[in-house]
Amino acid sequence: MKIDVVEALQLKEKPEWGQNLGFGKIFTDYMFTMNWTEKEGWCNAKIEPYGPLSLDPASLVLHYAQETFEGMKAYKTKDGRILLFRPEMNARRFANSNRRLCMPELSEDMYIEAVSAIVEHEKDWIPTAEGTSLYIRPFMFATEAAVGVHPSSSYKFIILLSPVGAYYPEGMNPVKIYVEDEYVRATKGGTGFTKCGGNYAASIAAQVKAQKLGYTQVLWLDGVQHKYIEEVGTMNVMFKISNKIVTAPCDGTVLPGVTRDSIIHLLKFWGYEVEERHLSIEELMQAGKDGTLEEAFGTGTAAVISPIGELNYKGEITIVNDFKTGELTKKLYDTLTGIQWGDVKDPFGWTHEVK
Ligand code: COI
Repeated sequence: MKIDVVEALQLKEKPEWGQNLGFGKIFTDYMFTMNWTEKEGWCNAKIEPYGPLSLDPASLVLHYAQETFEGMKAYKTKDGRILLFRPEMNARRFANSNRRLCMPELSEDMYIEAVSAIVEHEKDWIPTAEGTSLYIRPFMFATEAAVGVHPSSSYKFIILLSPVGAYYPEGMNPVKIYVEDEYVRATKGGTGFTKCGGNYAASIAAQVKAQKLGYTQVLWLDGVQHKYIEEVGTMNVMFKISNKIVTAPCDGTVLPGVTRDSIIHLLKFWGYEVEERHLSIEELMQAGKDGTLEEAFGTGTAAVISPIGELNYKGEITIVNDFKTGELTKKLYDTLTGIQWGDVKDPFGWTHEVK
């Protein structure tokens, strides 16, 4: 791919690289941009200064939300190498999301080339303090100026980069989760398995409700019976019940998380039994009552591994593991981040060096 570089007139001052980076508030000097048109296909690949876009107010994305995105991270190892984590999984999921939303696909090679090019260009922005990384946000949206509902005839693909610390203010401490029994996130045949902005727009009301009640995130139940556990607002979710790990299957309504898949691999590698099955909220709350619910945690690129300390379902409260991070949760966090940061041997070939 031919990528033109447009030089910035002035570079930004870099922030303090500690945990106080927060999540997704600081952006690097440059972004990657590329256009798609019916006539030319993908064209105009550029690394250009990060900055505001000029968009026609009739751009289809602003009206009908034809938008998809991904979330990835880049890490700098102690010996200065730059690592991505399983980028091919994000490339494939992005293509699946785009297919569902009738948007053009990028080949796996093109996607990884674009991500690698901007990360390499902005490598001085990769923070190195413990628990920090460079968050990568590739996204694509419809740019045709039209008000009728139809697939856009033009799109823009952008990758922006943001040095980040922990996603939740709690960091690696347990979070409190509200089980949502009114709003739903996804139903079969919908877009639950994709990463599209619309899924998150529709989830905000439940998040606001949970936060008003003092909870960090929402646990979604299935959209038909409001009975089976699906995922948490910004992450997949797993429960250790009687030494087995249970998580919802990816059968259309749950996001196929890269971290989810990696944790399932790690658990099986360590000899744990993992059940990808429909777990009812009644069974989960009962396990909380009878003490067989040993640990609960979320998995996601932004959230990494996030211990869950409390569940509230219709006012009934279950405290998990005395509101402490579980032993297995901690071991998973240490191993996964160890592989991602290049500190722990990667027996699976998950790390991808940017050169
Ligand atoms: C990620 O984990 O990378 C995500 O995209 C979740 C996001 C909504 C913060």
